Amino acid sequence: MQGSANLNLMIKAARKAGRSLVKDFREVENLQVSSKGPGDFVSRADREAERIIKEELMGGRPTYGWLGEETGEEPGQDPTRRWIVDPLDGTTNFLHGLPHWAVSIALEHKGEIVAGVVFDAAKDEMYWAEKGAGAWLNDSRRLRVSGRKTMIESIFATGVPFGGRGTLPATLQDLARLMPACAGVRRWGSAALDMAYVAAGRFDGYWERGINAWDIAAGIVLVREAGGMVSAIREGDDPLEKGAVICGNQGLFEPFRGIIRGE
Ligand code: IPD
Ligand code: CA
Repeated sequence: MQGSANLNLMIKAARKAGRSLVKDFREVENLQVSSKGPGDFVSRADREAERIIKEELMGGRPTYGWLGEETGEEPGQDPTRRWIVDPLDGTTNFLHGLPHWAVSIALEHKGEIVAGVVFDAAKDEMYWAEKGAGAWLNDSRRLRVSGRKTMIESIFATGVPFGGRGTLPATLQDLARLMPACAGVRRWGSAALDMAYVAAGRFDGYWERGINAWDIAAGIVLVREAGGMVSAIREGDDPLEKGAVICGNQGLFEPFRGIIRGE
């Protein structure tokens, strides 16, 4: 499957950052036993990955705008296009030597995400999608959301806020309503991969409160192009702005969202 020039640029940037992160990840595994721990080292690895991505993307498309987790927002000469980047999604996993983290890069055009790449560098899995061209894993596997139709057979992913964040009580209430109605809930620590796994039919749905645009932007186009549904948790909100997202396969989306909305 052939992507556009923009998509190829995104894949190139993700691979380059992924190589740097994999090298640093090996070092992190060694640092677990040191008394200081790998905290500062991981912050540097994260910043370096964003520098690499920014150099590639802004070098190739200097007029586009930018929103990155580490370097923030920079409006571009072209107000209609913007890169949305999380250089290392799943930082806590990375810090603990857990191989479940990803590079996430999205392209927004006139407020809509039109291309997305989520690269799981530790497993060499490149998830990508472009509006109208489908969602894909690596070069040849077309992604489709799962076909499960009953909640009780389905598995859902989420993020449970850490460090006493304000959305914790609402998430615990979500879990109390959802868990008796489904086959399980996973909290694997990377929103970008949670959404890629929904696109791949591995998870049947995903929701999260208090999430940032860079965590979910690429995932939104992956899920939609794999045939799934994505919205904000609250009716009428934009998930990229309000930071509360829900997605899933078509058959389950309404009952799943109904439970999360407490309807
Ligand atoms: C986090 C992960 C996690 C989600 C958090 C995010 P980070 O991103 O995506 O799964 O639950 O809300 O902040 O900090 O690892 O880039
Ligand atoms: Ca993130």
